[in-house]
Amino acid sequence: MKLTVNGQAHEVDVEDDMPLLWLLRDELGVTGVKYGCGIAQCGACTVHVDGMAVRSCQVPAAAVDGAEVTTIEGLGTPDALHAVQAAWIDQQVAQCGYCQSGQIMQAADLLDRIPDPTDEEIDRAMSGNLCRCGTYPRIRAAVKLAATKLQEA
Ligand code: FES
Ligand code: FES
Repeated sequence: MKLTVNGQAHEVDVEDDMPLLWLLRDELGVTGVKYGCGIAQCGACTVHVDGMAVRSCQVPAAAVDGAEVTTIEGLGTPDALHAVQAAWIDQQVAQCGYCQSGQIMQAADLLDRIPDPTDEEIDRAMSGNLCRCGTYPRIRAAVKLAATKLQEA
């Protein structure tokens, strides 16, 4: 199968039912995407497929044949961070950091769809992304900051 990951084309030979999470991590060495629960309940594995946030632990390889996948590594670059990444640093959101690539990918998807979300819309969109360190207040603040910056741009 063929897919594009962070702008790079790949051809891989994997089982159809291999989860995208493991295709990314084990076949392509893209390790910013994290394993949490494996059953679509925590959000740690969130990536974008054709511009939409998905739980990569539950997406089979066969479903991404020909797709464009973006992970935290491809959202921005060190020299040109995505507004959400910059806001995360500004607000010092991360504690242990394990959940944060998924949080950021979910937040970027939210702001693509709703550029100026209310607190309720933020909480609803982010409710499937769990953080055992309890960084939720900083996540909300960072989403609001990123929304402001994106609207100023
Ligand atoms: S590892 Fe995919 S949602 Fe938890
Ligand atoms: S920062 Fe530790 S789990 Fe979220």
